[in-house]
Amino acid sequence: MPSSLLRKDSLHVAAIMDGNGRWARARGLPRREGHRAGIEALRRIVKAAPDAGISTLTVHAFSAANWNRPAEEVADLLKLFEQYLDSETETLVADGVRLSFIGRRDRLPANLVAEMERAEAVTEWGDVLSLRVALDYSAREAIIAAVKNGVPPGPDVDLLIRTSGEQRLSDFLLWECAYAELYFAAKNWPDFDAGDLAAALAAFHARERRFGALPQAAE
Ligand code: IPE
Ligand code: IPE
Ligand code: MG
Repeated sequence: MPSSLLRKDSLHVAAIMDGNGRWARARGLPRREGHRAGIEALRRIVKAAPDAGISTLTVHAFSAANWNRPAEEVADLLKLFEQYLDSETETLVADGVRLSFIGRRDRLPANLVAEMERAEAVTEWGDVLSLRVALDYSAREAIIAAVKNGVPPGPDVDLLIRTSGEQRLSDFLLWECAYAELYFAAKNWPDFDAGDLAAALAAFHARERRFGALPQAAE
């Protein structure tokens, strides 16, 4: 029986989908193919998330710093995001996934922003999973904007997963991860699958979160 049937989890899991380029290089493929495979991994993880007890999944797809990559790679990524929206929105609606985006929109191509807004509108009633995709996102910028608006940046993260062996936050959800459990997977993102997600959640459930209080046994 999936653990989600035993526990009424509604976790906010965040994922830094890292390692697409290394995945491609290891296969002698252009980086673009790594990003394409990364999108397939995202599809799989979105399908697996509700049964894993996840109600909100925030994924890092493109950071504000990623504009510093070669123009060709940036163009490939933006094209892939558009293709994802084109091919996936209907499935998201059918699966009860509500899609939304965090990050700046003013530097993205107008046609992509239009597709993003269309996908947000069409999936608005999804109540199985909230899928939040970070595009042109910087946590520092989000914090400054939130302070200006007088509202907190976003919901607390329970578990943050980063793939590809890197152990850093790279300006992702700095505020929201104040008490997040951190989980670093060695696999590159295109290889990350439902079994790996289950392993990350098992590790999460084996930890004791204390939020500054005393351990349970000491109370
Ligand atoms: C993550 O994979 C995708 C983005 C940052 C857009 P990378 O492209 O960073 O892959 P590596 O880290 O070079 O392997
Ligand atoms: C973070 O990965 C951003 C995304 C996965 C979209 P990077 O590959 O850009 O981060 P650094 O450069 O290794 O810190
Ligand atoms: Mg990387």
